[in-house]
Amino acid sequence: MAEAQAGTKRLNDLQTMVSLAKRRGLVFQSSEIYGGLNSCWDYGPLGAQLKMNVKRAWWNAMTRREDIVGLDASILMHPTVWKASGHVDGFSDPLVDCKTCKTRFRSDNTESYLQRKECPNCGGKDLTEPRQFNLMFKTHMGPAEDAASVVYLRPETAQGIFVNFENVRESSRRKLPFGIAQIGKSFRNEITPGNFIFRTREFEQMEMQYFVKPGTDSDWYEKWKKTRWQFFLDLGIREENLRFHDHGPKELAHYAKAAVDVQYQFPFGWQELEGVHNRSDFDLTQHMKFSNKKLEYFDEATKEKFVPYVIETAVGCDRLVLVVLCDAYREEVSIDEETGKPDTRVVLGFHPELAPTKAAVLPLSKKQELADPSMRLRDRLAREFDVAYDETGSIGKRYRRQDEIGTPYCITMDFESLNDQKVTVRHRDTMKQDRISIEQVENYLRDGLRAFHVR
Ligand code: GAP
Repeated sequence: MAEAQAGTKRLNDLQTMVSLAKRRGLVFQSSEIYGGLNSCWDYGPLGAQLKMNVKRAWWNAMTRREDIVGLDASILMHPTVWKASGHVDGFSDPLVDCKTCKTRFRSDNTESYLQRKECPNCGGKDLTEPRQFNLMFKTHMGPAEDAASVVYLRPETAQGIFVNFENVRESSRRKLPFGIAQIGKSFRNEITPGNFIFRTREFEQMEMQYFVKPGTDSDWYEKWKKTRWQFFLDLGIREENLRFHDHGPKELAHYAKAAVDVQYQFPFGWQELEGVHNRSDFDLTQHMKFSNKKLEYFDEATKEKFVPYVIETAVGCDRLVLVVLCDAYREEVSIDEETGKPDTRVVLGFHPELAPTKAAVLPLSKKQELADPSMRLRDRLAREFDVAYDETGSIGKRYRRQDEIGTPYCITMDFESLNDQKVTVRHRDTMKQDRISIEQVENYLRDGLRAFHVR
């Protein structure tokens, strides 16, 4: 048997994260009591908080800029939107069926099919010809289920921004360049969803369209590439796990003049996290054509009229949550000096802004004389922070529980606290402990969270 080694291990298989996420109430399989619904996931108490924090970080990074405003458009839109955008005709993947084992798969990125035209599941060669499968979910609006009532669940949030370009520009008296940011659900009937919350059929997107004067678009594209890279670093994502992947001419979407993916090194390999696209004037021009409404911009200074170009940044919220989880995970193995046995501490080293819980209040004993003031401290802190309270199990176990969900601080109240009015604050990453006055806890947390050094 290999001897256990002290040191730090990072996440190298997704299943470890799926199990932790379920055990600790981050993410559950949707409809689990009915056997689950493929590729749909529910966020539990801590997951919902984590996701909210991820959204808030993105929303603030965007809308607190002077040049960006927010929007919340509806999921159902006029069906002509999707004709104009190109989704009705072009938003499809080539689908192939294996007649032997009945597996259905995407033929454009299935290695065995591309190389030898054989089924990725059974190796069979009796396959149907690839046919285009539109990824939009269709439904009907109103009681009649006929062709006239067809509407789609939006496959991207971006179109809600384009069709509101003029409303937003006028109502918020914007001059170019300016951006519109939106967070919301999108739906795609993906042929091969998978890898936990990486690719699902229902997901949330965080998209921003930045409207610029033609000719300045390439500069803005470069600026946004840098800004988005920095955003991920600011969230504490390790830079060695990020890279850019420029789209070659064959990869470019029909609307794009230039495009780059920010990729992350997941346990299952390098994959797209975010797309930054120069969409030219494609979308606004299309919507002008299909709606017969003017979506041009009049530049007062130069007296020019033109259709703005758009630089888009588009990141999946669920995908970013997965990145945050994978990147934060570590196992610290130490060897017990007495027994020589390995001891493993699992930590989610979240950036404090993202941590679902900022601090946990832990009375050393369940006795009323400690539990009451501890609960009072919890309630007091909850006015300002997301805090937890835990009185069950040994203090060591409780520390470990909080480490595993990434709580930056544990605050322990002991019998001495009743005399000296002090508590012990323990740090998640260093496990260092400070004894501080109960009165000072808010200040301590505020300063600590602000100055947090990550991992
Ligand atoms: N408006 C442009 C657009 O939607 P995209 O590259 O198709 O571009 C943007 O999607 C981002 O949305 C992706 O980088 C990914 O993070 C996320 N995304 C796309 N499809 C997804 C899916 N099926 N499940 C989870 N996230 C997805």
